[in-house]
Amino acid sequence: MNELYDFVIATYKGKPGALLSVLEEVQRKTEHTYLNEQALLYIAEHMEIPLSQVYSVVTFYSFFNLKPQGEHTITVCRGTACHTRGSKPLLDDVMAMLNLQESESGEEETSFTTDDMRFTVRTVACFGQCALAPVIAIDGVIYSRMTNGKLVTLLKQLMAKKVKS
Ligand code: FES
Repeated sequence: MNELYDFVIATYKGKPGALLSVLEEVQRKTEHTYLNEQALLYIAEHMEIPLSQVYSVVTFYSFFNLKPQGEHTITVCRGTACHTRGSKPLLDDVMAMLNLQESESGEEETSFTTDDMRFTVRTVACFGQCALAPVIAIDGVIYSRMTNGKLVTLLKQLMAKKVKS
């Protein structure tokens, strides 16, 4: 793994936005598309950037993942506009169909992944498309004015897809 980190760091070191580029590329090339602690420590040390700064970048941008991600990602907007137009029942349907449960700890989690690593369900604060609420995204494709019926159809199609080998 260190070879990957060294290669990516060498590619971007000294260039504008190097830290973001390195983090993005390491995440993209890591199985299950996430940044683990070892990667963050290595990047901080070898780019001579304080670990606290690396953490503030990966926690600021929602496209960075600190946990392993499923093959498919369903993102449900939980902003006010989407909430008032029914995003909670949409989220509940997705969670139920994928047998996922929200934590009972009371802490608000924003990411849930099925045990077989096929699906990750995430929430976001706003997609910036409030006029089209409720909005969800599946594998990066935005779907607006979502209904429970449409969502169930899309999910069934996704669940019927073959597992990547
Ligand atoms: S609140 Fe959902 S897109 Fe803005």
